[in-house]
Amino acid sequence: MAATIETIGIVGAGQMGSGIAHVAALAGYKVLLYDVSPEQIEKGMATVSGNMARQVSHAKLEEKDRQAASARITAAPKIEDLAGADLVIEAATEDETVKRKIYAQLCPVLNPEAILATNTSSISITRLAAQTDRPERFIGIHFMNPVPVMKLVELVRGIATEDQTFEAAKEFIRRLDKTSTVAEDFPAFIVNRILLPMINEAIYTLYEGVGSVDSIDTAMKLGANHPMGPLQLADFIGLDTCLSIMQVLHDGLSDSKYRPCPLLVKYVEAGWLGRKTGRGFYDYRGEHPVPTR
Ligand code: CAA
Repeated sequence: MAATIETIGIVGAGQMGSGIAHVAALAGYKVLLYDVSPEQIEKGMATVSGNMARQVSHAKLEEKDRQAASARITAAPKIEDLAGADLVIEAATEDETVKRKIYAQLCPVLNPEAILATNTSSISITRLAAQTDRPERFIGIHFMNPVPVMKLVELVRGIATEDQTFEAAKEFIRRLDKTSTVAEDFPAFIVNRILLPMINEAIYTLYEGVGSVDSIDTAMKLGANHPMGPLQLADFIGLDTCLSIMQVLHDGLSDSKYRPCPLLVKYVEAGWLGRKTGRGFYDYRGEHPVPTR
């Protein structure tokens, strides 16, 4: 029997955390949204509200359902506010030290039966689980961006994850009306193991002067039917996240084919992280995005 899940705690109110809050609230779960920064909680709640309003205006959601879902999301300004959650999903920065610190603060607060999940896009679930007091009730639940639109969720078991935890996570995803796929606990799992080397190769293509930003993105959109070009997608994911996934692949698989492109490193060093900072392979500060190279 899978554990009954009614209240979802979310750690991190950024792009992913707010998206998870959005879909969980729409599916009828109570949601507690926590972030170290109170401003970020406010920003995350505003993002959910804006995206739900857009769904109403596109007739994808009824106004009364939007109101009910919004009312199910509560700001959790302190980590102790997550005490009542049955499932907590950590969607913090893709940095193992940060995640470790969060688990150290969170675990003593949680109900011993609560499941702890991470939305990590690449870090070892087994290693993260070992930092907690509940490796049996620890699992990877990896959502794709934008969460309200993308149908897939990767489920990743650590070495100690119990079947009950896996079944509860699977049922949670089913209730969100998304499709789960199972990936083994290897660096970057399935989607990012395939997607990120493609994006990194697109950056090498730019670095080596094979094509401009515009020609590379147009080539892949019209030549391979991708909804976004790889550089546009890199900006959308965040260049810091792209770099950290390539580093996890490079370190974890010790194969030089995963070496991050120096141009990606340079953009991250400049703080040009893509859409979220207003500049990446495109400059988003004007009316239309303009290539930066
Ligand atoms: N919340 C709610 N709805 C959203 C949304 C959001 N954040 N973003 C877009 N939408 C909705 C729009 O409202 C629109 O709805 P309608 O069909 O009702 O009009 C629909 O999605 C399409 O959006 P747009 O018309 O604005 O733009 P688009 O047609 O260019 O689609 C896109 C946008 C869905 C993002 C599309 O470009 C796409 O699929 N891009 C690729 C995304 C992708 O590959 N994601 C995976 C990234 S990898 C990852 O996430 C893993 C990781 O760990 C890094």
